[in-house]
Amino acid sequence: MEGFFIFTDLPGLARSLERHYRLRVSTLDPYKLRSEFPILHQEINGNPLVYLDNAATSQKPLAVLNSSRDYYEKINSNIHRGVHRLSQAATAAHESARQTIASHLNANRPEEIIFTSGTTDSVNLVASSLGRSNRFKAGDEIIISGLEHHSNTVPWQMLCERLGITLKVIPVLDNGTLDLEAYDSLITERTKLVSVNHVSNAFGTVNNVTHICSQARKIGALTFIDGAQSIPHLNVDLESIDCDFYAFSGHKVYGPTGIGILFGKHELLCELPPWRGGGEMIKEVTFEKTTYNDPPFKFEAGTPNIEGGIALATALDFVNNLVISEITDHESLLIKRAAEILGELEGITIYGPDDRAGALSFNFEGIHHYDLGTLLDQMGFALRTGHHCCQPLMSRFGITGTLRASFAAYNTLEEVESLGEALKKALMMLR
Ligand code: ALA
Repeated sequence: MEGFFIFTDLPGLARSLERHYRLRVSTLDPYKLRSEFPILHQEINGNPLVYLDNAATSQKPLAVLNSSRDYYEKINSNIHRGVHRLSQAATAAHESARQTIASHLNANRPEEIIFTSGTTDSVNLVASSLGRSNRFKAGDEIIISGLEHHSNTVPWQMLCERLGITLKVIPVLDNGTLDLEAYDSLITERTKLVSVNHVSNAFGTVNNVTHICSQARKIGALTFIDGAQSIPHLNVDLESIDCDFYAFSGHKVYGPTGIGILFGKHELLCELPPWRGGGEMIKEVTFEKTTYNDPPFKFEAGTPNIEGGIALATALDFVNNLVISEITDHESLLIKRAAEILGELEGITIYGPDDRAGALSFNFEGIHHYDLGTLLDQMGFALRTGHHCCQPLMSRFGITGTLRASFAAYNTLEEVESLGEALKKALMMLR
């Protein structure tokens, strides 16, 4: 591994890495890509910004920024409501975005794609609608996992409290993966829904959601997959996962905040009741009775985030132009190298399995993650500290939180290397 970090010899570096990690090295060029992200070219405290908080939110390329601007400059108007030219153009762009998103997920039809404000909104939509359906009764069971974000815990807990349902939790093994043997024994004929994340935001664990869904299907339980942390990093094919619901947020995948997606199987969306009332979700309203629109509109009361949906489709086009498997390979290399560099630092505990997507979480013995995060910030590094909205997971490991570096396509090996150096400096100050 001598000469490993001679950055002028990128092909040579790629070949060394390929041999070392037995990974296919991506052809993606993060240095070139960075020119498309204006926000990355700034200094914090006189140091270049090293943005490693992508699991919290990703930065936006010019294509997405221009898409939002173009929408407001050229076609801004309300959709599905106007006979005029601008409204028709906005409606066409909005519905074309729905089609792009359906294709990206390999969904059967665009009507299976509901625009929401984010993953949290999508979970609440399904929990609320299921709660109003006749699919649950007291004594039924919902299974989640110990790796869940609060947004895939609390909405189900609220539903359980309201209807007398029992919430069961798939335990997490010491290596940060789910105990799938325990999962098999948690499923009973009373299980009505299984809801887990595809990738853990806290540890980067990639869950075998195809297996989890197939086990649930055997006993007729519905399945919900939180894809907030998988969509930016992995190829997601809903036909092969075969879940009933899948949710993600635009802002984690180079798109804007305030826009998210819920995929639902068409027959289920037809069956389930709406959750919010208002314009758009109705067929006919009288004071005596209202009839509801077909999906997806049944679940889209009110004026949606039109610009957000269009910009999200642009973000997915951006990802597809880079090729998602190239992003996966590039990020895997960054994470593996980060684990290797950080693994050599004294007193470190790294959480989660070796094969991670997106995030690397760690702590140093006797040092608070918040103190380290604050010192790193002064050196220009943006990392998240704390419980990552996963308090039960932190309790499982007997910690209050971690320091988390999370990656995107525009991060470089040089940044990973400099994170190691910055951590060494910060640790010297704190020890
Ligand atoms: N869920 C986001 C994170 O993990 C906010 O940081």
